[in-house]
Amino acid sequence: MKIAPSVLACDFSRLREEAAAMQSAGADMLHLDVMDGHFVPNITFGPPVIRALRPHLTIPFDVHLMITDPLRYIAGFAAAGADIITFHVEANSPVTETIAAISEKGVTPGLVLKPATPAAAAFPYLRRIGMILVMTVEPGFGGQSFMADMMPKVRELRDRAKALGLSLDIQVDGGIDKDTAQVAAAAGANVLAAGSYLFRQADYAGAIASLREVAINN
Ligand code: DX5
Ligand code: ZN
Repeated sequence: MKIAPSVLACDFSRLREEAAAMQSAGADMLHLDVMDGHFVPNITFGPPVIRALRPHLTIPFDVHLMITDPLRYIAGFAAAGADIITFHVEANSPVTETIAAISEKGVTPGLVLKPATPAAAAFPYLRRIGMILVMTVEPGFGGQSFMADMMPKVRELRDRAKALGLSLDIQVDGGIDKDTAQVAAAAGANVLAAGSYLFRQADYAGAIASLREVAINN
């Protein structure tokens, strides 16, 4: 089980310290939520912030693009230091071309599915991506409630990946805490993006361990 703290829930005035603290606490990767105020009704940050943060951390940067035209910005996010770039299948860019553009930069491509989008929307691309992200809230805001009804989608993707002989990373994002982590792990997820749950605790190492433990006990 891999734990990806989402900096959306951190104190942005201390982004570097907060991200470094999560790394020291055992995070496997850092989840960076990019919002453009168009694909989702919120705006966060872009390549300059990611580029500024990159030299201060060693863990992989997992960049979740909630933007209308991901293809247009792939080069910028790759140059800023992204290790994984996930983008929404519902966005306006051609999916195959965008996956190829990410791979060509030496970055791992991933696809994201909004709650209303079925697993089958990702089926044609599973061999070409390293990660699939199943949103367990509507994208755009932290602190929302986990949608347990997304678990059949996670299971369907895990079964499909297995049938194809792929060791695909399946990430869930939104409303993850130690209870919902267990539900997601049981359905076949192996990467947990978590914002509010991790950052609201005083002990980051304990918080990360609490997610890893419940997941492993399944
Ligand atoms: C939502 C973002 C999530 C968000 C999760 O659009 O993609 O990564 O930070 O936040 P929590 O864990 O608070 O639901
Ligand atoms: Zn996210």
